[in-house]
Amino acid sequence: MNRSHSGTRFLHYLKSYTFLILLATFCALVIAVGELGYVHILADTIDALKLIERHDFDRNPLTVHYFQLNAIGLDNTLNVQKSVIPFFNGLTFSIATQKEALRLVGTVLAWIFGLVLIKGVFAYLNDFLMRCVGLKLIVRLRNELYHKMVMAPLGTLHQYRLGDLLSRLTDDVRSLQAAIGSTAGVVRALIYVPVFVVVMLVRSFSLTILALLVLPPLGYLINRFGQRIRRTSREIQQQTADLSSQVKETLTGIEIIKSFRAEPKEIQRFTDTTQQQYRLSMQRTRLSAMLPPLVEVISVMGISTVFGLGCWQVIDGRLSTGWFIGYISMISLMFKPLRTIGQFNIVLQQSLASAERIFQILDFSEEKDGSVELHATSPSLEPATAKSGQVVFRNVSFRYQSGEVVLRDISLEANYGETVALIGSSGSGKTSLINLIPRFLTPFEGQILIDGQDIGDLTLDSLRQQIAIVTQETILFDGTVLENIGYGNPDATETEAIAASVAANAHKFIQRMSKGYQTQIRESGHNLSGGEKQRIAIARAMLKDPQILLLDEATSNLDNESEALVQASLADLMAGQTTFVIAHRLSTIVNANQILVLDQGQIVERGTHYTLLQQGGRYAQQYQLGLAK
Ligand SMILES: Nc1ncnc2c1ncn2[C@@H]1O[C@H](COP(=O)(O)OP(=O)(O)O)[C@@H](O)[C@H]1O
Ligand SMILES: [Mg+2]
Repeated sequence: MNRSHSGTRFLHYLKSYTFLILLATFCALVIAVGELGYVHILADTIDALKLIERHDFDRNPLTVHYFQLNAIGLDNTLNVQKSVIPFFNGLTFSIATQKEALRLVGTVLAWIFGLVLIKGVFAYLNDFLMRCVGLKLIVRLRNELYHKMVMAPLGTLHQYRLGDLLSRLTDDVRSLQAAIGSTAGVVRALIYVPVFVVVMLVRSFSLTILALLVLPPLGYLINRFGQRIRRTSREIQQQTADLSSQVKETLTGIEIIKSFRAEPKEIQRFTDTTQQQYRLSMQRTRLSAMLPPLVEVISVMGISTVFGLGCWQVIDGRLSTGWFIGYISMISLMFKPLRTIGQFNIVLQQSLASAERIFQILDFSEEKDGSVELHATSPSLEPATAKSGQVVFRNVSFRYQSGEVVLRDISLEANYGETVALIGSSGSGKTSLINLIPRFLTPFEGQILIDGQDIGDLTLDSLRQQIAIVTQETILFDGTVLENIGYGNPDATETEAIAASVAANAHKFIQRMSKGYQTQIRESGHNLSGGEKQRIAIARAMLKDPQILLLDEATSNLDNESEALVQASLADLMAGQTTFVIAHRLSTIVNANQILVLDQGQIVERGTHYTLLQQGGRYAQQYQLGLAK
């Protein structure tokens, strides 16, 4: 994604907050006008003081002017007092005595105090409103990111590492937040510069043009630095993502790492990345620290030129001392926001690198949903008694986005209540085949039908409603045991949940836990044994009461005793449901209605235990081996 693209997209997001931003802009305008007021008070007071100093009050009163918006300098002589704003010719004071002159000073102080107050209030509002916009935007982005991640098809998610995705949601959003946090100052700066430029142009065209000559080099400099900072930031963000990926992987697999005594290696890998990140960050720091002084030097060059020319005009009698000082302060006031913009550019470039990473996720397409309800075409079927759950594959082929064909021309038919066992060496495509049924994965060829309906047409709701999955890696969530069993079944009562755990052989051990069903499950079940987790997962599947059950090596990492318990509960679950079961232990599939032997993505043998034994093929061989063990 190119730079202008993520920039414009970012602006597009700001569009919904137009009102708040306009309000903040208005506040900035008030502040800028207040600032101009200061300049006027300063310049006019100096000129007035000069007149008062030399004036002889005994002879005649003195007239002084404030807030006259006339042009100054080269274009006009001091005497022409013509306001550029029609109907407003400033304020005029007639001073007859020295005492009255002192009173004027009081008035001036009151103005200054008033301006400070107004400026303070509007600066607060400006800052508050922009921060408000920032927070709203961050919340919205986080929510959208999470939504996109969760709704994305598995195929898309598989292309990213978990830690990387996580880091986009946290680190990158935070980096964007930093940029948004400083936008108040930028809004102010963006208002200041044009306001001051216009006022200065009106006041003295030639001096202003001279001052503006420094803008092109400034712009070039800010832009060049910005590009380099952005390039570096992109790499830094990527490394932050790498780091969080590594932390996630190592902490998840900490037992393995320790068993291999691989801690030093992992620590080395981590420090290598942090070291590299340090180097890049230093490079970015050098760039960021160099820019402000460079901007300063160029601005001072501009100011000095105007200073010199202004001095000459004062000596020449064409510019008053007061307005000479006033003009110089206006220029300084204009260069200060220019510096702010330059500095913001640094933060902005860093955060645009993050914005690119965020927009990548926001561009995820959602899982494609169908429009037909499962069983909608045969309303006569009564769900409770109807025999449904027939699964048919017709010449299905599948490949992952990255790789070669993983499943080739698979055809099979599993009728209601049947158990289909899938066996084959690891990598033969068993898991992929099972994952096609809930449409986690989509075949590129062929058709999968459930009760005669193409699953590609079905709504994901109605399809997945009828499918329960128990995998080797049991997934439990933070929450109580009861909440975990009831996950995805908000309508289930506690009694039903307990009935499901009884059937899953889980009730007894749950009761023995400190708080029974209210016991908290931490960090996907670290406080439970493998068999216990598995039986909770089975209770969860039972409570769902699906028509189709998918068991992917549900018992393969259990010890014998838990396996026996889990087997017993699975047998209950499988009765009356169409079941696809993947198991390494042949003993668990002897009773299956069909056994499919997969090899390199193809079904190479099919039949029942007895027919396959008679055939004396691969299954028979493996069975003999299994018995021999
Ligand atoms: N997310 C994935 N992306 C790319 N290839 C994958 C992915 N998951 C599995 N594969 C590949 O697909 C093939 C079948 O894998 P799988 O279905 O998990 O086999 P099994 O469950 O029989 O061990 C393997 O060659 C594996 O490398
Ligand atoms: Mg597998």
